Amino acid sequence: MKVLVIGGGAREHALCRSLSLDPAVSALYCAPGNAGIADVATLRPVDALDGDAVATLATELVADLVVVGPEAPLVAGVADAVRAVGIPVFGPSAEAAQLEGSKAFAKDVMAAAGVPTARSYVCTTPEEVDAALDAFGAPYVVKDDGLAAGKGVVVTEDLAVARAHALACDRVVIEEYLDGPEVSLFAITDGVTVVPLQPAQDFKRALDGDRGPNTGGMGAYSPLPWADPKLVDEVMELVLQPTVDELRRRGTPFSGLLYAGLAITGRGTRVIEFNARFGDPETQVVLARLRTPLAGVLLNAANGTLDAQPPLVWREDAAVTVVIASHNYPETPRTGDRIEGLLEVAAEDEPDAYVLHAGTRREGDTVVSAGGRVLSVTATGSDLAQAREKAYTAVARIRLDGSQHRTDIAAKAAGLG
Ligand code: AMP
Ligand code: GLY
Repeated sequence: MKVLVIGGGAREHALCRSLSLDPAVSALYCAPGNAGIADVATLRPVDALDGDAVATLATELVADLVVVGPEAPLVAGVADAVRAVGIPVFGPSAEAAQLEGSKAFAKDVMAAAGVPTARSYVCTTPEEVDAALDAFGAPYVVKDDGLAAGKGVVVTEDLAVARAHALACDRVVIEEYLDGPEVSLFAITDGVTVVPLQPAQDFKRALDGDRGPNTGGMGAYSPLPWADPKLVDEVMELVLQPTVDELRRRGTPFSGLLYAGLAITGRGTRVIEFNARFGDPETQVVLARLRTPLAGVLLNAANGTLDAQPPLVWREDAAVTVVIASHNYPETPRTGDRIEGLLEVAAEDEPDAYVLHAGTRREGDTVVSAGGRVLSVTATGSDLAQAREKAYTAVARIRLDGSQHRTDIAAKAAGLG
């Protein structure tokens, strides 16, 4: 099978790594990719947002499967363009990707499907904003309606800050604050059949102790030793299957990866958000634990034959990933800094720990930072404590001027306080 992956972050590196280890994959391409993905896939330049360009590339490569990684191409209709030239694609249509592209649309689908989520108002005027902030009280949760790479959400006790963020957006969703630990649960679906993956937890705030601004995600781990063993079944029944059924009923079936971001509150599990693609950095830890070869699962979803997919097989191992971000992330990340220590990790820590590249590019013989999140250092171990130790050992070998990372990823879950 020839597979083309669209994107160039750590999620795509994790996808490409898994696909490269799958014996069914005879050729693997990534467009545009990054410096690390080049080690496991052949890179092709492409404008990932240009559906015609992606479809042309897939045709040229005689791809049997195209996997669209990030949300922006999905919302822009890249999966539709590839499907239109008759090539199976893993990723939803532009219409179905509105589940991520518009928070208001997601709320509407959840209301119709009876999916538990935070109560909310969609506001377009200052009067509506004030009424909604007043109705819910602090802490205030204010979300830009459109795509914002995880950075359009402000959660604050400060009414003035909440109001300022709301007024800076054209259309905002203001909602009830959900108190409780967060879980990311992904499901692969062909629009009918839904196959859940293993839950993971993401660390969204920039700084240790969940302080600082929201980011795209600073680290993740899986499994969740503290979670109710029935969580996956419960979310399947209350959230994932009803959502997939509702989108099919509307004539816009969702095929691809349905990401449920959940809060486990005292009053039950609630959806915080949906995404229409694999999460980053959760994918790094979820795929590290998946034993079933990936390509066949994704192809079954793309072809509408997921009912024929044998049950997924998981490793007993735990996995932890720690994101190394550039100086000044998430505000105005500095790029172009030289990254050192990659070969030391390869020599000393692989295969238990390895470096997945997010924003990197090659400059002659060196690899330099090219984005806010630069690397996602991933490790597996017999339990979370061991996986975390291996991940941080590898992180310590990496040198990137001005870089930052959290030191508390998976610490609490590993019983370390
Ligand atoms: P989102 O982009 O919707 O995932 O929001 C980013 C982050 O903001 C989430 O991971 C939560 O940590 C926080 N957040 C979003 N909505 C809520 C909510 N209703 N209550 C509490 N925290 C929230
Ligand atoms: N880790 C959060 C996201 O992928 O949106």
